[in-house]
Amino acid sequence: MVVVRPNSSSKRNGRGILGFASGINAKSYIILGLTMVLFSFSCCYIYIYNLHINSHHFTTSDEAAGNWRRGSSLFHRLEGMSNGFSWKVIDWQHPFSADEESRFTCTWTHFQSFLSRESAPMCVHDDDAVSNSIKGNKRWSDCDILPVLWNNGSAESYVYVEIGANIGSCLMEMLLSTNASIIAFEPHPMNLYNIKKTVSLLGESYQDRLTLFPLGLGNASATSTIYSATGNMGNSGKVISDHPGQVFDQKNQFTVHVERLDSILAASKMKIGLMKMDAQGFECRIVEGMGDVAEIIDVMKFEYAYPWLHSHGCFDLVSLLMKNFDIYTGFHDGVFSGLTNDIEVSANTNTVFDLFASKRNS
Ligand SMILES: *[C@@H]1O[C@H](CO)[C@@H](O)[C@H](O)[C@H]1NC(C)=O
Ligand SMILES: *[C@@H]1O[C@H](CO)[C@@H](O)[C@H](O)[C@H]1NC(C)=O
Ligand SMILES: *[C@@H]1O[C@H](CO)[C@@H](O)[C@H](O)[C@H]1NC(C)=O
Repeated sequence: MVVVRPNSSSKRNGRGILGFASGINAKSYIILGLTMVLFSFSCCYIYIYNLHINSHHFTTSDEAAGNWRRGSSLFHRLEGMSNGFSWKVIDWQHPFSADEESRFTCTWTHFQSFLSRESAPMCVHDDDAVSNSIKGNKRWSDCDILPVLWNNGSAESYVYVEIGANIGSCLMEMLLSTNASIIAFEPHPMNLYNIKKTVSLLGESYQDRLTLFPLGLGNASATSTIYSATGNMGNSGKVISDHPGQVFDQKNQFTVHVERLDSILAASKMKIGLMKMDAQGFECRIVEGMGDVAEIIDVMKFEYAYPWLHSHGCFDLVSLLMKNFDIYTGFHDGVFSGLTNDIEVSANTNTVFDLFASKRNS
């Protein structure tokens, strides 16, 4: 089904560039996006190829079976991946820095899975679309279809990958209603804080299933600085890029890291049963950075959000994905429907489509 939302701004309000979320206004996204692009044009390429996980590393049975969980050799390899970088995979035994604990807070509410009806405490922002939905409805309904897609398609050992995890609504849905091993990416420290608070309260068996990268994804390795006016995303509604002459408090300054997906995951002997990508217009860069990882994805759920994509110079997302996937507008009763190849031609500034990319069997 094609979902056309004439007023896309209310929906977009809950999301963010690269999965930055929550109450950040459109102009800020654009400024931040431009900063990201400038950064990727210029200075900050930190390719350290010998740290990349490449094919000959995949040797043990754990890895062949797609076992990414804590204690598995692949988990350690992913963890080791952050050695030498200024970011680290989240360690669930020590998820918080003292700095984070002093800077951030979140508000507890209850999340309830759409599919399994399991519920758990979840820490959300004071005031943004996703958080308010969870406070009111106990979930963010965009996530409902994910476990359905997962259960329909994938073998037990495949991985679920989420790009732009926001405050973790879909992670919670997948954690509480499936047994999927999960790899998630979220760059914004204030969203990460919420995810970490929430997952810290879940049992170890859940934590072991989630490898969380404090990263945005793009077409190059980059670092950027963002500022928040108050240190409280929900209240501030402002994230502004770094250009000279800013008057923001050091305290509310964050460093955000961006890497290519193919510098983190290798296509060899691994399969991604399901991916969700929600990056507020940055999708073309992310797909470019997937390299051959795109070939091991069975199904992807993503959005074609015209205003956001176009504001980031992303005019050919569907065409890029059509190299590896058939693109559909709907999924019902285990069947994709609405095969499409001309979304980009017919879309206008008011359209936001939920789309599915299904690996093309060639
Ligand atoms: C998850 O795995 C457990 C143990 O193997 C099993 O009992 C349970 O039914 C599984 N849950 C789902 C949703 O597949
Ligand atoms: C990343 O994308 C930007 C914007 O399209 C482009 O200018 C830049 O050359 C790309 N970088 C790489 C390494 O592909
Ligand atoms: C999804 O479920 C439908 C209906 O049960 C089935 O025909 C289809 O093969 C399934 N798809 C996958 C990828 O398993």
